[in-house]
Amino acid sequence: MDTKLVFQDVANVATPMLAVLAVDIAIGKEADPLIALLTTSDAVTNAAAAVIASNEFKGGLGEHVLLHSPNGLKAERLLIVGLGKAKTLSVDEVRKGAGAAVRATKPRGVLQMAIAFPEDHALSDEHLENLPCTLLSRALIEGALIAEPDWDVYKSDRKDRSIETLTIIAPEGEESTKKEIQVGFEEGRIVGDAQNFTRSLVNEPGNVLTPTELGRRAAAMCEEMGLNCEVHSTAKLEELKMGAFAAVAKGSAQPPALVVMTYEPKLEKGKTPAKDAPVIGLVGKGITFDTGGISLKSADGMDKMKYDMAGAAAMIGTMRAVAQLKPNVKVIGIVCSAENMPSGSAYKPGDVFTAMSGKTIEVMNTDAEGRMVLADGLHYAKTLGCTHLINAATLTGACVVALGMINAGVFSNDDKTYEKFSRALRISGEKFWRLPCTDDYKDQIKSQIADIMNTGGTRWGGAISAAMFLKEFAEDTPWVHLDIAGLAWNDEVKPWHPKGPSGVAVRSILEWVRSYSA
Ligand code: BES
Ligand code: ZN
Ligand code: ZN
Repeated sequence: MDTKLVFQDVANVATPMLAVLAVDIAIGKEADPLIALLTTSDAVTNAAAAVIASNEFKGGLGEHVLLHSPNGLKAERLLIVGLGKAKTLSVDEVRKGAGAAVRATKPRGVLQMAIAFPEDHALSDEHLENLPCTLLSRALIEGALIAEPDWDVYKSDRKDRSIETLTIIAPEGEESTKKEIQVGFEEGRIVGDAQNFTRSLVNEPGNVLTPTELGRRAAAMCEEMGLNCEVHSTAKLEELKMGAFAAVAKGSAQPPALVVMTYEPKLEKGKTPAKDAPVIGLVGKGITFDTGGISLKSADGMDKMKYDMAGAAAMIGTMRAVAQLKPNVKVIGIVCSAENMPSGSAYKPGDVFTAMSGKTIEVMNTDAEGRMVLADGLHYAKTLGCTHLINAATLTGACVVALGMINAGVFSNDDKTYEKFSRALRISGEKFWRLPCTDDYKDQIKSQIADIMNTGGTRWGGAISAAMFLKEFAEDTPWVHLDIAGLAWNDEVKPWHPKGPSGVAVRSILEWVRSYSA
């Protein structure tokens, strides 16, 4: 989908489909909806007057109504898309509304569309606090881009009804406002594309996307974006003494892949990098298929475990955006990829392995493989000089039990670092809920014969046991752990997205990284 930004009167734009966003400004729970369009165009307001007066359209988030040949507009169709209550409007509703506009347009076979930039000042302050222009613009284009794919590449009767061009129409106005809209538009394009890149990796079946193939795709992305990339396999794992990571890979005919992607900010002429400059490490769980290994999962829903590399894919997508947004901070992305299989050479419950850090791990359950590969990934990141760490992983079913599919889990060993992540969430619009990993829980992973064990022994607090395990390898380095098991795959259709890979965490990790930019 090509995207354009123009500054023009919406009434004069000739397009097959013009979408405008609308909110419900009625106050009080019981009040009937009172629809207000987020536009200052009288022509659009007049064209929509009759349908709005009919009360057929309630303005709910993602709800839409379509008019053909709207009076007084050059557009062939006018699509009105609801964002819900004005009082609770945030940029996130704008992101979803833009997505709903795209998804309502796509099945109609309309190939070109335009969305009117939401003019929140069309409403008085009593209804709506003004939202920052840059963020609005960014959310609009992100929402549209991530709504577009249908994940039907493997269907032979694929409709291929992609929208070819999307134009954002913003009103003529002050140069400073136009500049803000332009900046948000450019950022949103990069971030939306990065999130889609992540999703395209997660969508791939396990037979196509092996660890080796994941390494290849990461390398190709780095080549395209000018990032340094190294892809290693079994020999390097042995050389680095990554006993925990290597243990997981043992059961598969597919060799593991250790990917290291590096972004170095350009230094101003004559300057040397500050000695205490932070180096950010992004570590992703890249299990291209998780059978559970010898502790085999049940057949029910096992097919979904091709998405067990969503943490790794999030890091690859984030690096793609970092390469283009060029923050002034060094970032190293590490992917630990393997296939978790049962076989004659597979690791077994009761086995003990020595991780790269020297800690010994007793394997209680081979299905707790994600923490094994991440243990070595986190330690390796520190040896490469990372001062701040974040990891993402579809790590535990227990996290899904705790938080459902609305919030992903976030854990941290450092409140300041967590606060920065929490601020990043306000921009990304993603939902993460903090869970504890204080030392009170340390006994949960105490092993009888080794330093630690890879499960909590009991089912209770399973997401926390996993976090406690990872914390052993982050040690004193400020660290954030994202458990995205419940959110990396959309099981439900929404007006703004289809079923399939979500690309969760890319936007939040990216904003967190940018918060360290000097
Ligand atoms: N990849 C799974 C986590 C998972 C499970 C994601 C269900 C989504 C839905 C992970 O490797 C795993 O199997 N974890 C085990 C850990 C247990 C053995 C301690 C789990 O959550 O059951
Ligand atoms: Zn597992
Ligand atoms: Zn797993």
